[in-house]
Amino acid sequence: MQAVVIKTFGSPDGMSVVDIPTPTPAAGQVLITNAAIGVGGVDAVIRRGAISGYGFEEGFVPGSEVAGTVTAVGAGVAPSWVGRRVWAFTGTGGGYVEQSVASVEETLPLPESLSSTDAVTLGSSGMVAHFALAHAHFAPGETVLVRGAAGSIGIMAVQLAASAGAGAVAVTTSSAERGARLRALGATHVLDRAGAGDTAAPPNYDVIIDIIAGPDLPTFFDKLAPNGRVVTLGIVGGPPPADFGMRLIAAFQRSLSFATFSADSIPLADRNTVRTNHFAAASRGELQTVVHECLPLDQAASAHRKMDAGEVFGRIVLTP
Ligand SMILES: NC(=O)c1ccc[n+]([C@@H]2O[C@H](COP(=O)([O-])OP(=O)(O)OC[C@H]3O[C@@H](n4cnc5c(N)ncnc54)[C@H](OP(=O)(O)O)[C@@H]3O)[C@@H](O)[C@H]2O)c1
Repeated sequence: MQAVVIKTFGSPDGMSVVDIPTPTPAAGQVLITNAAIGVGGVDAVIRRGAISGYGFEEGFVPGSEVAGTVTAVGAGVAPSWVGRRVWAFTGTGGGYVEQSVASVEETLPLPESLSSTDAVTLGSSGMVAHFALAHAHFAPGETVLVRGAAGSIGIMAVQLAASAGAGAVAVTTSSAERGARLRALGATHVLDRAGAGDTAAPPNYDVIIDIIAGPDLPTFFDKLAPNGRVVTLGIVGGPPPADFGMRLIAAFQRSLSFATFSADSIPLADRNTVRTNHFAAASRGELQTVVHECLPLDQAASAHRKMDAGEVFGRIVLTP
């Protein structure tokens, strides 16, 4: 079967399409014929070589989120799974292939009216956004700033905060066109990447959901209300300055909080519950999925070039 592997970490040119044997599901696993594969921001972070120490090696298959039909099951898995249309988390890697294996515990049946494409746009990003807001102790009526809202996680954070009754939902993004699209999803104020550009925006926020980190992170601490909380869940802009905590210490009297967040810290059952709820909400039209573009699996390198060029709003989906 066709698979996309990383032969050399760095540029998308280091990705290749190869032929590999179809996997056999092990005990507790299902085999899925993929109809849609999500291209996540984290795939690009790994491919660039920005995450070291996790043992990513030549031949690594990127992608962690697929949707399709179960065609076989391993020992201990009910045969009734065969023929079901599902979403699955394949682990860190293993997604950019025609057929994936996944643990049945991380495989969820899909509502009939939700497409596979929509499922891989929502399955992880909605869950991460949900728990990041919870980690920030976001409460209805509070003001929220989503930093890096044009990606799939940010798009979900905007919608979830708005639908939960946020007092205001500000976003950072790089263009007026993106800002208009984010307003249509629930943003009330649109800021540029530096956090400026909307004089009507609230002067400070109770919660900042930060997907960027990078050198500008400390300047966003100045935008926190007393008792404000920043939750950083991504490093799209690189690491923050080593002394970023000094800005919090300097604002001691405002009782600010900084936290990191990883969905790995959430129990699997809770992740599955939220994903299932989101699939149902999307199938009812209560959550919007934003698909930037569908591309054939063998154009995965092109998808990564588009991500590196900053062209992607929402998520690219690969179709085998
Ligand atoms: N914590 C977790 O559990 C978890 C789970 C999955 C993924 N992640 C992390 O989440 C990140 C990917 O999320 P994503 O796919 O939603 O994001 P993304 O699409 O990679 O980026 C989001 C947006 O950030 C803006 N941006 C890009 N570079 C920037 C820079 N240097 N400074 C300021 N803004 C910049 C871009 O929008 P504009 O051009 O409009 O500004 C971009 O669309 C990765 O770091 C990944 O590791 C975390």
